[in-house]
Amino acid sequence: MRNQLCKKLGIDLPIFAFTHCRDVVVAVSRAGGFGVLGAAYFNAQELKAELDWIDTHIGDHPYGVDILLPQDPDGLGGTDPQILQRELSDQIPAEHVRFAEGLLEAHGVPPWPDRDEPVRLLGWTAATVMPLLDESLKHPRCTLIANGLGVPPPTLVERIQASGRLVAGLCGRVSQAKNHQRAGVDILVAVGGEGGGHVGEVASVVLWPQVVDAVAPIPVLAAGGIGNGRQIAAAMAMGAQGVWTGSLWLTVEESALQPAQRQSYLNASSEDTVRTRSWTGKPSRMLRNAWSDAWAADDAPPTLGLPLQGLVTADAMRRTERYAGSGDAQAVACNPAGQVIGQITAVESCRQVMYRLQEEYLAAVQPLLASLEEQ
Ligand SMILES: Cc1cc2nc3c(=O)[nH]c(=O)nc-3n(C[C@H](O)[C@H](O)[C@H](O)COP(=O)(O)O)c2cc1C
Repeated sequence: MRNQLCKKLGIDLPIFAFTHCRDVVVAVSRAGGFGVLGAAYFNAQELKAELDWIDTHIGDHPYGVDILLPQDPDGLGGTDPQILQRELSDQIPAEHVRFAEGLLEAHGVPPWPDRDEPVRLLGWTAATVMPLLDESLKHPRCTLIANGLGVPPPTLVERIQASGRLVAGLCGRVSQAKNHQRAGVDILVAVGGEGGGHVGEVASVVLWPQVVDAVAPIPVLAAGGIGNGRQIAAAMAMGAQGVWTGSLWLTVEESALQPAQRQSYLNASSEDTVRTRSWTGKPSRMLRNAWSDAWAADDAPPTLGLPLQGLVTADAMRRTERYAGSGDAQAVACNPAGQVIGQITAVESCRQVMYRLQEEYLAAVQPLLASLEEQ
């Protein structure tokens, strides 16, 4: 499986793992793949602690950081995140706050212990993201910056590349892939609509080959719906240089999820996800539950855009995480996942997953090659 992209990044396997958990980043990179830490939930100080820990444990392997690079880096860059948080919160209609609170109360989710502690403005604005980028660029083993939403401005891409790192851009449409190409990214991640988190509408098997053709010779990673080696073989057959996986790592031994949340993922079938705007304001695939149903109902207030809807739901996110096993918290918890979650029914270690993926990949490819030789 070691191909050109692996050589460029100094890895053995073109298997990329998106995760919010530093232990998973380290375990995947140490097993020959490429761990990528999702930084959106951290502030710069927390990210520094995570990356320092990774640097200490990852040996001489590389890793990446995924941030939602701002389309206008100067826009709110100088604004204090706390002031911005207050300004944005003032724009949220009281009806939305009441609706969210009502759902949490109805499902027995306790209030946040310090009611005066403001919710966190996540890494979705220039004010919160630029410090994350600055911090990431201080860590030499972090050799890839991935951009999870929208197309980054060429100036930011150039800044990252000038530091000797590669830039990857996630896309869910061919037109977006072309915009990424124009912005100068080094790697495209084509995410099919069945994937977890923010996704478009086009399914993986349709999207991947179109993106491969549209941006050639830029290498493309296939994402959305990959949980076994057969799916990797299919992606590589369509011209992908590797795979980018997310849901696969939610339930691994090394994952830091609360037990109740892990169980929700293990219980879910492939029909149990929904594409909803109810968490961030942008369409995002999650486990369907009472929260996503309530916001889709006729009597619900219309969801706001990003980052306002994210601020409406920030209190629900911190409370359903802290009290994941209380009351009926999982019914209103934010559990992003792709349809592939239905394939994931047992807890494995990252090393076991990496080994299994290779075995399954070979088992899928070898008969195909043999059948060609027979002809
Ligand atoms: C729990 C979860 C959180 C995610 N958060 C982000 C994120 O913050 N930034 C990002 O670029 N992608 C995020 N994603 C999407 C992944 O990067 C990836 O595109 C997706 O998981 C691929 O589909 P799969 O889940 O079928 O493997 C998230 C995915 C999951 C499952």
